[in-house]
Amino acid sequence: MRYARTRSGPMFLSSTAVVASELVKLVTCLFLVRAEHKDRWASAVYKQVVQQLLDTLKVCVPSAVYIVQNNLLYVSASHLDAATYQVTYQLKILTTAVFSVLMLKRSLTVHKWLALVVLVAGVALVQISGSDSPHDAPPQNRLLGFSAALGACVLSGFAGVYFEMILKGSDVSVWMRNVQLSLLSLPFGLLTCLLSDWHLLMTRGFFYGYDFFVVYLVILQATGGLLVALVVKYADNILKGFATSLAIVISCVASVYLFGFHITFTFVFGAACVMFSIFLYGYTPQVKKISGKNETLE
Ligand code: C5P
Repeated sequence: MRYARTRSGPMFLSSTAVVASELVKLVTCLFLVRAEHKDRWASAVYKQVVQQLLDTLKVCVPSAVYIVQNNLLYVSASHLDAATYQVTYQLKILTTAVFSVLMLKRSLTVHKWLALVVLVAGVALVQISGSDSPHDAPPQNRLLGFSAALGACVLSGFAGVYFEMILKGSDVSVWMRNVQLSLLSLPFGLLTCLLSDWHLLMTRGFFYGYDFFVVYLVILQATGGLLVALVVKYADNILKGFATSLAIVISCVASVYLFGFHITFTFVFGAACVMFSIFLYGYTPQVKKISGKNETLE
């Protein structure tokens, strides 16, 4: 994402890439629904999406939120180094935890709250670390990048928990839910395109700046989204946050080799805090079996 937004040459509109990813997801999910329902897939989609209109409307909320979130992520990746962006975006673990407590009435143990404090400290250290790209890198507005990442974290936490509620509260398949999600995301995405890039869309067209790399990016984003759906279905949102955090290491290493990113001691320390918080958060207390009952030891 970072590379696509900072390389030279004609620059694609990120709002169109968000819409294109939704389209890829929709087509993929329709194929998966077809595999589930065989010949009756079209009537199954009609029944679920059109006849259960109220249920479909429930999905409107995460559809709109994900569109804004995905657009914010492009802004953030354009203004923050890939590694800083990746570490900052892990704050979604905090927002997911807060929304889990508020919306799902989950309670968090003391060590989980402690992990969240370490997470915030780690992200703060990375922000003040001063690690930067070489001087020939394109100009960037770190405050804008940070604010966009922060906004995306809040939306990610909310949409993730909301979607988990919808998924686990019914027996509609995850792929059918994603058909609903993408169908509704498309009009929201197109509206965002028109509102934010009307002039450029009219003068350059929807696919301006698209090449194989942008197509690859669009498919990558769509695949990532579908994997998120699977993880939310079979694990939970908080675990998802931890799985994603492994991306920090990959982005740091890739940033050094691809963008000549200078890693400072403060950055490494901050990223290590974030990684530590991930393991602290994921730690499950030992379970002792007492006469057939499970007892959790804190
Ligand atoms: O980073 P986060 O986990 O919030 O990522 C959510 C991403 O996954 C968004 O890009 C969203 O469009 C996508 N998603 C999806 N289908 C779902 C849930 C999320 O495509 N069921």
